Amino acid sequence: MSADMRFGVLTGGGDCPGLNAVIRAIVRKAIDGYGDQVIGFRDGWRGVLEGSYEELTLESTRGILPRGGTILGSSRTNPYRRADGLERVRATLERAGVDGLIAIGGEDTLGAANRLHTDGVPVLGVPKTIDNDLGATDVTFGFDTALQVATEAIDRLHTTAESHHRILVVEVMGRSAGWIALHAGIAGGADVILIPEQPFDIDEVCHLIRRRHERGRYFSIVVVAEGARPREGTLVAASGAADEFGHPRLGGIGHALESEIERRTGFETRATVLGHVQRGGTPTAFDRVLATRLGLAAIDAAREGRWGSMTALRGTRIELVPLADAVSEVRRVPLEEYRRYDVLFG
Ligand code: F6P
Repeated sequence: MSADMRFGVLTGGGDCPGLNAVIRAIVRKAIDGYGDQVIGFRDGWRGVLEGSYEELTLESTRGILPRGGTILGSSRTNPYRRADGLERVRATLERAGVDGLIAIGGEDTLGAANRLHTDGVPVLGVPKTIDNDLGATDVTFGFDTALQVATEAIDRLHTTAESHHRILVVEVMGRSAGWIALHAGIAGGADVILIPEQPFDIDEVCHLIRRRHERGRYFSIVVVAEGARPREGTLVAASGAADEFGHPRLGGIGHALESEIERRTGFETRATVLGHVQRGGTPTAFDRVLATRLGLAAIDAAREGRWGSMTALRGTRIELVPLADAVSEVRRVPLEEYRRYDVLFG
């Protein structure tokens, strides 16, 4: 192990509260703990492909701990979408003189990292996503912050729902996993929660709402994950162009539910789409601490040459797990867990 090593860092995919806390922890420990150097690639894999990076110093990373977003910028660039992607990555790392790369990202960014590792590139991962849907780690930072934002929004929407006797539909993020919808819905006392893991029956949704009315509760809160889909395939939610990892831009199920619930029940229904509000702004204390712990563990792992691994929270401990385990499948809400809350709905 040489006394002074040089590592690259990048943040890819959707921005997420806590990214800056990871970067700060890596830089602090690399410089002060090991006497190493760190460079930050701009805008995820794009910066590596294009050789765009900057030196990260104690000074340039000062004050970023509570800041949302990422000082490095992010993108949904997929290095394997370019025929010469692998060569470019290798060439940049060589030119920049780095001993290895720490990729902070979700399933797409870390999926690319895992493939690069298989292709011989020295890279390890740090898991991030507000969706909380990565395998091999119990929780991802960003989730707790998104949950707080969504729960507060539900609390605030309760006021109008109750005062105006309306059905309020709250669309939250989560394209293939319903963790935000489920936990924010439970924390906010939602009357219906719809998640991607369980296609919903619009008749059943309307039945729960009507039953509340019969019991004298003239309002309802419906929390729906953006990736939730109707069982019978009759409710069509708009989805836009796909990104470089093949994910369509979602958003639309909330408004589809708004008109369908109102049409079927006759109750005034309004939808609120929380969108990027959920991943903006300052991270919660939990996310700051988790992100810091993962960052410190990542620079230790890089120092030890543990390429192809990922820092993970297992129980209360930070451990190293194979990157491949983290990206082999999306961690979805188990249906028995979802159904446990049935008694709280309607
Ligand atoms: O992966 C995080 C996430 O916020 C998802 O919940 C959401 O589906 C997606 O990113 C939205 O991405 P974008 O901001 O690129 O449309």
